[in-house]
Amino acid sequence: MARPRILSGIQPTSDSFHIGNYFGALRQWVSLQDDNDAFYCVVDLHAITVPGDPQVQRERTRVSYAQLLAAGIDPQRATLFVQSDVPAHSQLAWVMMCLTGYGEASRMTQFKDKTAREGAGSASVGLFTYPCLQVADILLYQANAVPVGEDQRQHLELTRDLAERFNHRYGQTFVVPEPYIVKDSAKILDLQDPSAKMSKSVPAGCVFLLDPPKQIAKKLKSAVTDSQTEVRYDPVNKPGVSNLLSILAAATDRTVAQVEEEYGGGMYGPLKVAAAEAVVAVAEPFAERTRGYLADPAELNRLMAEGAVKARQAAQPTLQAAYAALGLQSHAQ
Ligand code: TRP
Repeated sequence: MARPRILSGIQPTSDSFHIGNYFGALRQWVSLQDDNDAFYCVVDLHAITVPGDPQVQRERTRVSYAQLLAAGIDPQRATLFVQSDVPAHSQLAWVMMCLTGYGEASRMTQFKDKTAREGAGSASVGLFTYPCLQVADILLYQANAVPVGEDQRQHLELTRDLAERFNHRYGQTFVVPEPYIVKDSAKILDLQDPSAKMSKSVPAGCVFLLDPPKQIAKKLKSAVTDSQTEVRYDPVNKPGVSNLLSILAAATDRTVAQVEEEYGGGMYGPLKVAAAEAVVAVAEPFAERTRGYLADPAELNRLMAEGAVKARQAAQPTLQAAYAALGLQSHAQ
């Protein structure tokens, strides 16, 4: 039997992935490539929905790709590619935009969150239609499942709705994918404000994998805890300490219960030291491997080109089927 097809994407919006990306998503991507026909995509078209410097953008795409390799994505087993290398993403995105109701798009909470502060008026139309591009990413590959975090659930629902709508209106064309929500251990919070998810946009509470080890250790050791003294896993009343337990568990491949057994009842200091050491032990070799890939630009280019070809081959038949179903014909060739 064919292995299930899965697809996921990550934005190249920072100079380094952080431990939330890594423990929450990338590690799962790596283990999923064994039993699935995995497509992983650096979504650089999504990154241009907000203005940025082209030079920086180009570099971030390469660094992101190198980090995915460093995390253990194996280009022999999985298809690892850059979104803008496959024109069909943009082409199918337009189709998806034409299928999406204006009201439907207006209900997307990620857009509302992202524009909450400055108002939607200054956002680009691309940011507004971002979910339609994401739908295209997924449907083009006829993915059976999409490993994503909880925050992407609504986009996945839209994907299913649009796939069903298209199939119903124009004939069976797309696989309707299942969400594959990566759970729990995954949820890494901001070290300075453990009521929020760890995010690159708040660097003070965010541990970047490519940061120098000293800086990583320092951030973990100065994590906000609470005014009590005893280690206990209690995410509601002790979010900071619980976050450190989660991080230590993730970084040492243990369950939170196992880690709590060792550190529970103790003081905060030793827990922080252990978390710092464990994260550095993951991050340091990861950064080393990333630098290795970046040090050989020709080989990186070759891998990116190979991924692009494989992805185009997989995507093209779906685009053609969708165009044909819509009555869009090719008049050349
Ligand atoms: N929107 C996703 C995020 O912010 C990234 C993404 C883009 C994605 N295209 C995708 C995830 C396709 C899964 C599948 O995390």
